[in-house]
Amino acid sequence: MASNSPLATQQVFIDLGERSYPITIGAGLLGDPGTYLNLPTASTALIVSNDTVAPLYAQALQQSLQGHYNRVLQVILPDGEAHKDWPTLQLIFDALLANGCDRKTVLFALGGGVVGDMTGFAAACYMRGVPFVQVPTTLLAQVDSSVGGKTAINHPLGKNMVGAFYQPERVICDLDVLQTLPPRELSAGLAEIIKYGPIADMAFLDWIETNIGALLAREPAALAHAVRRSCEIKAAVVGQDEREAGLRAILNFGHTFGHAIESGLGYGQWLHGEGVGCGMVMAARLSQRLGLVDAAFVERLDALVQRAGLPVVGPKLSAADNAGRYLELMRVDKKAEAGEIRFVVISGPGHATVRSAPDALVREVIDVSCE
Ligand code: NAD
Ligand code: GLY
Repeated sequence: MASNSPLATQQVFIDLGERSYPITIGAGLLGDPGTYLNLPTASTALIVSNDTVAPLYAQALQQSLQGHYNRVLQVILPDGEAHKDWPTLQLIFDALLANGCDRKTVLFALGGGVVGDMTGFAAACYMRGVPFVQVPTTLLAQVDSSVGGKTAINHPLGKNMVGAFYQPERVICDLDVLQTLPPRELSAGLAEIIKYGPIADMAFLDWIETNIGALLAREPAALAHAVRRSCEIKAAVVGQDEREAGLRAILNFGHTFGHAIESGLGYGQWLHGEGVGCGMVMAARLSQRLGLVDAAFVERLDALVQRAGLPVVGPKLSAADNAGRYLELMRVDKKAEAGEIRFVVISGPGHATVRSAPDALVREVIDVSCE
């Protein structure tokens, strides 16, 4: 892929001992064979993509990899969160086995978070573990899902409930590919970028507020800064707590409410980032009711989420007992302990913590947040 962008390529390093790896951020990376130097040696590479992304970018990746591997295979999955499931995962194993792929085969995840999470999980499982590389093509995947080694598929009863921690060899964030992203998907990515402000870096939140127009206009320099700073924050958190013994849970700010919306409506109705955007406002409201932040903080976050093009009013998940249905869904959250829901709340600007909250308080938040 040709690029005239003057952007310098940047690297963020994720420090996990022998599982450490670089996140490369820049323009024109995907179609440059030099991007893929020094990956594990193998005879075969398998590109995993979907039927939306593959027609746009699989050929460029295929050509870039051809000098590095004897065989470059492709498996194209059906697009969508609704396909983040066992039958679709099986298509990856089918391709690997049908082509006699050995345990050195390198998988390349070319797509958004759905492709990335499924490819990573397949890599973790195939022959008990083969190397994989993340080539994220959505903003959300570049700033969050491709980094940190969480891989999973959904279960009808809960989101991302079946998976593994399994780190990629490298993450390659080509900013050029973000130009073809549908506007709704761009906004979904902005939700995960906004998330890093309240939980870790209020100066970054200030920067996002100032530059939200440039981000929505996909200005390369703004995108480069947002992706780099997001990856730096995520790398620092994951470097301290790879398997979410504690600290890493703060990266799930907004996700407890958001996952309930996603699974309650049926996967694919609301985008993951939309659930997170609305969920962050709900979690901020809960933080306020717990006496941790003031109303101005909630209003500030609400305004920014709206400016990013994201919903701030939650959907009704039940006509009979809406708050009860949210609570029921949230009890399936991975942070729940012995049936008690645990929320990421803002403990002060730029700081987050995980705690439970009385059901009555959570019901109040849901009641004022849903239409
Ligand atoms: P997605 O993977 O469904 O991609 C969004 C849509 O954009 C899809 O239709 C896709 O085909 C299309 N697309 C992708 N790149 C494109 C491009 N460059 N141009 C045009 N269209 C393009 O959604 P997502 O928002 O990237 O990821 C959401 C998923 O990520 C969820 O399943 C969520 O659970 C997961 N996630 C995982 C982590 C993690 O740490 N592993 C973190 C956050 C989210
Ligand atoms: N997206 C949350 C995490 O990676 O922990």
